[in-house]
Amino acid sequence: KVLILDFGSQYTQLIARAVREANVYCEIIPYHKDFEYTADIKGVILSGSPFSVNDANNPVVDIAKINATYPVLGVCYGAQLTAKTFGGRVEKSDKREYGRAHINIQQDDLIFTGVDNGSQVWMSHSDSIKTLPEGYTILATTNSIPVAAFKKDTTGTDNPLYGLQFHPEVYHSTQGKNLINNFLYKVCGCEGNWTPANFVTETVEQLKKTIGDRKVIMAISGGVDSTVAATLISRAIGKNLFGIFVDNGVLRKDEYQQVLEVYKQLDLNVKGVDAKDRFYSKLAGQTDPEVKRKAIGNTFIEVFDDESKLLEGIEMLGQGTIYPDVIESVSVHGPSVTIKSHHNVGGLPDSMKLELVEPLRFLFKDEVRKVGLELGIPYDLLYRHPFPGPGLAIRILGEVNAEKVNMLQQADAIYTQALKDWKLYDSVWQAGTILLPVKSVGVMGDERTYEFTVALRAVTSVDGMTADWAHLPYDFLAHVSNEIINNVKGINRVVYDISSKPPATIEWE
Ligand code: XMP
Repeated sequence: KVLILDFGSQYTQLIARAVREANVYCEIIPYHKDFEYTADIKGVILSGSPFSVNDANNPVVDIAKINATYPVLGVCYGAQLTAKTFGGRVEKSDKREYGRAHINIQQDDLIFTGVDNGSQVWMSHSDSIKTLPEGYTILATTNSIPVAAFKKDTTGTDNPLYGLQFHPEVYHSTQGKNLINNFLYKVCGCEGNWTPANFVTETVEQLKKTIGDRKVIMAISGGVDSTVAATLISRAIGKNLFGIFVDNGVLRKDEYQQVLEVYKQLDLNVKGVDAKDRFYSKLAGQTDPEVKRKAIGNTFIEVFDDESKLLEGIEMLGQGTIYPDVIESVSVHGPSVTIKSHHNVGGLPDSMKLELVEPLRFLFKDEVRKVGLELGIPYDLLYRHPFPGPGLAIRILGEVNAEKVNMLQQADAIYTQALKDWKLYDSVWQAGTILLPVKSVGVMGDERTYEFTVALRAVTSVDGMTADWAHLPYDFLAHVSNEIINNVKGINRVVYDISSKPPATIEWE
């Protein structure tokens, strides 16, 4: 494996994903955390950072010590720290350098295999390396900086040490992946055995060992993470996995039956619990979004708790926690460590003191999907748009009841099917319909109608943190509007939401 020492850069996870995409396993650890110098580590990458190497109390690691055992690659701050540590000069740039630049290769090197002279790279720094330490060679420059890539001169058994001022891990460094691959394979001698197939084999073996003949209970939602995690656990322990899939009454049209059918095909031991009415009665009269969310969350826990009491001898709890939920991150407000609390847990009662089983704890979302494909989980389930835990309840503005859910399920199904038919589904990050709590006048045939309005929402995004409204074709919107109004009783008007996030949000509640 490869270790990535994190100095708090916003891009650290992108380095990890690029390494994983090259089929090499890696872990991110905060720079100040001690690690064991084990033989399975093939190389170390030093990340970027919001700090300057010239800040008082800037974060440091003992590069000489690390490099005495492993090849090292410094990226941005990591490169500057290397240069400064061994006697080079790093100063504030005359102008800050952000965005596009092109490298001028000064000396051929194996790190540049498959990288063209003039290749576009992405910069994001305000310091630059003015001079290198003695015994170091400039490998590349750009038009505005004298040192864009460098390496330490090595002899005999010295481990290689490289520095890159730019960010090879970001999308806009067009051949950056080649640089990373070269470091992994040509410099560190990695083997490339981090593949979904190997992951499945090894994880199932490991789960068999750690779980033994104990019984595992797990809430499964039909979403990507819990489905993949449950399938892995099931491969290891079969019927000793007790999955619970709850119909909370605010799922999408036919979702409950469809998901149960998939679980049956995957041979998962999952019990479907139809708790619709229990949820509806808790939602009755509630109009505040947060109160609705809490009602759903709490009712879910009650249902799960009740189900668990029906089972005997359960000792473990399965969860679909993934790597971004557990990475220890370096806070930009000072070199301290914060651990993100993961919300997948869903606040289960303390009385359920069960040991956790989290087979996806070290996977990124895209890796979870690939493992899912490897396990034979249908593509449609793995590549579905994100869907909020409180489901259609937060897409029905105001009070939720069975009748409104039914209306919205129909509209949502028409919209989703049309996105697929028009080959727009995959270019949109998330889409859904929102039932507005207003009625307006319409006319159908000779009759005046007074019915609800549905808003269509579709956004493009990378992570849901920011989003733009999707510029869907007018013809498509016209088609969906017609279909919904003609087929869903109770809706006589369709509008399209053209707000971006921020200042709006993706959901309406
Ligand atoms: P917003 O509306 O905040 O949504 O722009 C961002 C993303 O989060 C999802 N979302 C939720 N997911 N429980 C969830 O599991 C929730 O209460 C919730 N609220 C919003 C939303 O669907 C979008 O993908």
